[in-house]
Amino acid sequence: MKLPLIKLIFVFAAMFGLHLSVYAAPDLANGKKIDQEKCYACHAKKSGFGNGDMIYTRSDSKVKNLQNLKTMVARCNTELRLDLFPEDEADVTAFLNKQFYKFK
Ligand code: HEC
Repeated sequence: MKLPLIKLIFVFAAMFGLHLSVYAAPDLANGKKIDQEKCYACHAKKSGFGNGDMIYTRSDSKVKNLQNLKTMVARCNTELRLDLFPEDEADVTAFLNKQFYKFK
């Protein structure tokens, strides 16, 4: 099979674009905004604390490391169909880690 050059260029561009979005520095301000707009209210209600931050600092937190945190953010995002882009998910994860979890 012979790939036309234009297709190859597309493939490289896609790979490079992905590469950039994975390694770009997270936008903490954007992460905070997303947490306030999409996450806080439900957590305040569902946790029973009446405070949307406290689910992240509860003593029986299910999140023990950065990988757990990514998984939980992804779970809330997909299960609840919040429609965050991967970049937004990364931003909100970074914000939550900096603000609450402080994993290395
Ligand atoms: C419609 C309700 C709802 C929304 C919206 C929601 N969550 Fe959640 N989230 C929950 C519930 C319920 C839990 C507790 C799940 C459990 O205990 O297994 C939870 C738990 C979590 C946890 C784990 C907390 C801990 O330390 O144990 C993280 C992290 C999290 N959510 C991130 C997010 C983020 C980020 C968003 C917004 C992008 C979001 N959630 C939006 C319902 C929601």
